[in-house]
Amino acid sequence: MDNSRTPSTDFIDPDDLDTNTSNNAHFAQVLEQGIGRRGMLKGGLGGALAAMIAPVAAVSLAGCGGDDDVVVSPPAPPVAPTETLLGFAAVARTLADTNTVPVGYTARVILACGDPMAGGVPAYKNDGTDTNYAQRVGDCHDGIQYFGLSATGTRDDNSSNRALLAMNHEYITPVVLHVAGPSARPRPASETDIEVDCHGVSINEVAKDAAGLFQAVATSSFNRRITGSTEIQLSGPARGNALFVTKFSTDGTKTRGTLNNCGNGKTPWGTLLTTEENWSGYYARAAGDQALRSAKLNASFARYGRSVTATAAASSRYGWETAGSDDKYARWNTSVTGTSTDGSDDYRHEWFCQGFMVEIDPYNATSTVKKRTGMGRFAHENSAFGLPQSGKPLAVYMGCDSQNEYVYKWVSAASWNPADANASDRMAIGDKYLDSGKLYVAKFNADGTGQWIELTITNPAIAGAAFGFTDQAEMYIHTRIAADAAGATKMDRPEWVDVHPTTGELYITMTNNSNRSATPTGTQTSVDAANPRAYADIRGGRLPALVGNVNGHIVRFKDANPEATSFTWDVYLFGAEASSDPTYINLSGLNNDNDFSSPDGLAFTKSTGLCWIQTDDGAYVDVTNCMLLASVPGTLGDGETKTLNYGTVNVTTRVGKKPTASTLKRFYVGPYDCEVTGLCETPDGKTIFINVQHPGEGTAAADLADPSKYTSQWPSNVGYGAGKRPRSATVVITKNNGQRVGT
Ligand code: FEO
Ligand code: CA
Ligand code: CA
Repeated sequence: MDNSRTPSTDFIDPDDLDTNTSNNAHFAQVLEQGIGRRGMLKGGLGGALAAMIAPVAAVSLAGCGGDDDVVVSPPAPPVAPTETLLGFAAVARTLADTNTVPVGYTARVILACGDPMAGGVPAYKNDGTDTNYAQRVGDCHDGIQYFGLSATGTRDDNSSNRALLAMNHEYITPVVLHVAGPSARPRPASETDIEVDCHGVSINEVAKDAAGLFQAVATSSFNRRITGSTEIQLSGPARGNALFVTKFSTDGTKTRGTLNNCGNGKTPWGTLLTTEENWSGYYARAAGDQALRSAKLNASFARYGRSVTATAAASSRYGWETAGSDDKYARWNTSVTGTSTDGSDDYRHEWFCQGFMVEIDPYNATSTVKKRTGMGRFAHENSAFGLPQSGKPLAVYMGCDSQNEYVYKWVSAASWNPADANASDRMAIGDKYLDSGKLYVAKFNADGTGQWIELTITNPAIAGAAFGFTDQAEMYIHTRIAADAAGATKMDRPEWVDVHPTTGELYITMTNNSNRSATPTGTQTSVDAANPRAYADIRGGRLPALVGNVNGHIVRFKDANPEATSFTWDVYLFGAEASSDPTYINLSGLNNDNDFSSPDGLAFTKSTGLCWIQTDDGAYVDVTNCMLLASVPGTLGDGETKTLNYGTVNVTTRVGKKPTASTLKRFYVGPYDCEVTGLCETPDGKTIFINVQHPGEGTAAADLADPSKYTSQWPSNVGYGAGKRPRSATVVITKNNGQRVGT
């Protein structure tokens, strides 16, 4: 997504909004801002240029039939690859509107937005006339996970031939979903139904054909859509809370829909954990509604981005509440409209039912879906389980992706029993490990250590917060406010986290942060040891300049055990353009074969131990489309300390060992105007699946009649599907000689 465009509101991914006004973690008071590259200045001139450039929001344009009689053989231990890791030649940066893979590799498209997922569903015409998206692949593909199936259709974690691909549909590219683009408000019901159904999650069976190529099985009884209107149980410690009472659920135990599903994760017992990221903006809130709410609830609305005043309403992202009086549209207005005292006659509380981690059993298309409220309510990016240890609690790591938000950890109350990995009632195992436990938030210290601070109202800092928490269940609903009180460290937009399959160290991307500064004013947060960079990138003269941590970084940390309350950390890698200043910006010494900006997706493949890094960038997209890199990471502390001199104040950070040609290479570049996100592999490591989100999102509605004006025609231009409108889709990548991917 190219920040040079002026986005319409429909295309703004509000990832980078900053609603964190707490005073946490301003522990470096610095006087001068280092200045970035491509026409970059630094040192003494920094303050002058910074003063000329108003802070620019780094707008990210973004995104039945199960068999419960499962016999699961234990997963085969990974076999050390005999191939040379990163043996391929790095692909070059490119603006080509295609899949660019290394020589010797092949990329194929499957499961594009709109593809049928049930028998009898018409083929996708891709001209804006298609309907019935509740039985089609959704839009804006994001996180993806592989759930193996045996030849007889039972769960088989070792199968590399047949599987269920469970993937998120984060949001929509409205311009391509309707004949002439989206209509103005009030929105037509027909368009609204399409847009709600394009959200959520899809479970898709895929199987190898006679030629050994993975194909979607559109008629599979496993195929399932969970959309923005699917009934979902509210589980865990906040179930039944007064803030979950709606006209739809007068006892506060259920809700409808999962929204803005970004990254995801896979549990050790074979279920999907999907996440609700930028859900807040989907809801309208009327001007004057603040007068009908408690000060406490207004504070929570503010902290999650839904403030109103007597004269200013909060406008919804897509205007679904304007589509009519039917209950399915009225629910998108989270204002007091009824006369009840408890909210049982309206949707004033609907907004509180979103923002959770959501568990789905992909192997059972009729299974109940549950929101795990104990894991907190925030802008969930994804989840990663620490390596399970028999007899120890399970740890689940999670980021909250907005500017200056936090990193969290869930620790189960129950100790891990390896037999649970193969239980037939998988959602019951979820109840066991994900409904009872402790939630922690991270504080990163300057000395390379950190603390996990438990979010509990027995913590005096939380109990004594001005917000006035009254019970623990309520704390899970206003998680960010509790984390503020706990003194968590504000980070540069925590995105995907994953665990190294052998060292157990955690890697978490900090994608970028335009609200980080060495000379903070207003809501800006000061540079610190774990978020040490703030500079300006004038992008070869393409104004407006980008400021703050423009290119992002990847933090690495390690817990001694799952329930540890302290950790150690360093910065594995700093994103940068290869030609940028090595003293302030290109701290990891990236070159033309491996430079990147705005790391977002991150996943390890167990077969090879490779770490895959994906970008969702707006800073470097004048030079290259978003990409996927493969890396062989080292270990925490393998680098050095590095002091950044911002005038009279220094910030000392910890930089991982600089990558080499044998430890970091660009592997794939996606089509124009896309984000590359989500990654999973077959157990044999010979196939990876990645997602391409919103190619061509910058296409204007006025240009729909002329495909030559589309900013992307992918994937039709690589031979996939009807019509030329761009579509989000899954890409299957294999090595032509049959070896593992990434070798
Ligand atoms: Fe949906 Fe944080 O990316
Ligand atoms: Ca993301
Ligand atoms: Ca992102």
